[in-house]
Amino acid sequence: MKYETIEEKLQRLRDLKAQALQGGGPERIERQHKAGKLTARERLDLLLDKGSFRELDMFVTHRATRFGMDKRKYLGDGVVTGWGTIDGRLVFVYAQDFTVMGGSLGEAHARKIVKVLDLALQNGAPVIGINDSGGARIQEGVDALGGYGEIFYRNTIASGVIPQIAAIMGPCAGGAVYSPALMDFIFMVRGTSYMFITGPEVVKAVTHEEVTFEELGGADIHAEKSGVAHVVADSEADVLYLIRKLLRYLPQNNLEDPPYMDTGDDPLREDPELDTLVPTDPSKPYDVRDVIRRVVDNGEFFEIHETFAPNIVVGFARLGGYSVGIVANQPSVLAGVLDIDASEKAARFVRFCDAFNIPIVTFVDVPGFMPGTAQEHGGIIRAGAKLLYAYSEATVPKLTVVLRKAYGGAYDVMSSKHLRADINFAWPTAEIAVMGPEGAVKIVFRKEIAQAEDPQAKQDELVAQYRQEFAHPYIAAARGYIDDVIVPRSTRPRLINALHMLANKRVTHPPKKHGNIPL
Ligand code: HXC
Repeated sequence: MKYETIEEKLQRLRDLKAQALQGGGPERIERQHKAGKLTARERLDLLLDKGSFRELDMFVTHRATRFGMDKRKYLGDGVVTGWGTIDGRLVFVYAQDFTVMGGSLGEAHARKIVKVLDLALQNGAPVIGINDSGGARIQEGVDALGGYGEIFYRNTIASGVIPQIAAIMGPCAGGAVYSPALMDFIFMVRGTSYMFITGPEVVKAVTHEEVTFEELGGADIHAEKSGVAHVVADSEADVLYLIRKLLRYLPQNNLEDPPYMDTGDDPLREDPELDTLVPTDPSKPYDVRDVIRRVVDNGEFFEIHETFAPNIVVGFARLGGYSVGIVANQPSVLAGVLDIDASEKAARFVRFCDAFNIPIVTFVDVPGFMPGTAQEHGGIIRAGAKLLYAYSEATVPKLTVVLRKAYGGAYDVMSSKHLRADINFAWPTAEIAVMGPEGAVKIVFRKEIAQAEDPQAKQDELVAQYRQEFAHPYIAAARGYIDDVIVPRSTRPRLINALHMLANKRVTHPPKKHGNIPL
């Protein structure tokens, strides 16, 4: 009897691995490159620390037989999975390989993703999924649908336990969109990625609308209109770099704190420019990101949802080396009003920060909620309640700085003391009141203004009086709703000092299965 020699056995292993590394073969790889896309392995190379990738399930194949599938087997079954490191920290990854049956998801393909999600959850490390797929593998029918269901379930169970990040680098259609949608952050590439429930052809058949892939579900549409995409970049390399950057602000899981990083920026640094940055005329706009950049370490701000609901700004930064989540009304867009999209954007961000032990710093300059039938009928009541709920529920350190306007219900919503913010500062330019002066005097002194000899002069006089009596932070400070009125230039040292004071904050709510956030 002749046995295979060890050399022959090793050669067989090398041959199989070489075959797996080829994906769908050189022609399909060339087609992928021509479409401006990298292969699954090239993407993982860029994402992970050099040489850190350890692959799982390279030899997995499907067991489908129908529709000619018995003759179409590829090692790895169209998805590359495993673990590696980013900045030396463990992450689990999967990258769909479009060169193998269009990256379509069948039973074995799904099992590979499920294995990685289970490992990530059990070992408390982030998971990053790179999506590039024609969706459910048609030939595998319900096995493909079941595979998606198993992934959705795990995404849900892992939510709030480990950070989950989706990169969309090609098609992501039909029910396949729901795995990224269940994750924490979706990154998209301009021009080569799209997400939709039903494609342009179905849209045309059902609604007679003619729409291109890009118009229906391209990166910019999801970044600006639907809010599905959190971060968008021009190239795959940029997206992968930005994912690495985002992870620096996040802990590995919900039981850890985010990593400290020595940024070299002096915690006691004051910025005199802040004293004059906010115009005292309450109708004059300014860019709140100028305030944020002057306060945080080295002016570095990682913005999330930059072009969606730009009337509120959210993102990550560091203060004294510690990661913080920033929420800020943006007076340069719609005067910083809270509308449906802004409320939902901020609510989701606040909940993410709270789940992952990231303190929240809120800069307030808000004239109120957006009026009008579009907003009322669209559910501003539900949406505003989400933000109230998110802030109230959050137990991480919450710091608030009222820069200028904090009017009406929006005062309460924006991390007020009443929702258990820990430290509430105001600048001397703050105006905390039920509403702005013009609106207030028209309601309270309607008759006096109408009956005055010169109604406009009377109104101006009352507005001036109102401003004097209400448009400042000192009534709120007299009640203790504002802990201190601070000189704007000292904002950074005051926030960092407060963060240190709150480093061991512990708050517990009554036990319950889960709350019922107004979804
Ligand atoms: C099996 C698929 C496939 C699929 C693509 N392929 N999608 N195989 N199941 N869903 C294969 C193609 O046969 C082809 O194989 C290869 O992938 C590349 O596809 P092309 O069409 O040549 O590529 P391209 O022109 O770039 O078009 C890409 C595409 C198109 C737009 C994604 O393939 C397409 O429309 N696919 C179907 C998309 C779809 O409707 N999926 C179901 C969505 S519903 P060869 O051998 O030629 O390389 C869904 C439900 C999820 O996913 C439910 C969860 C609950």
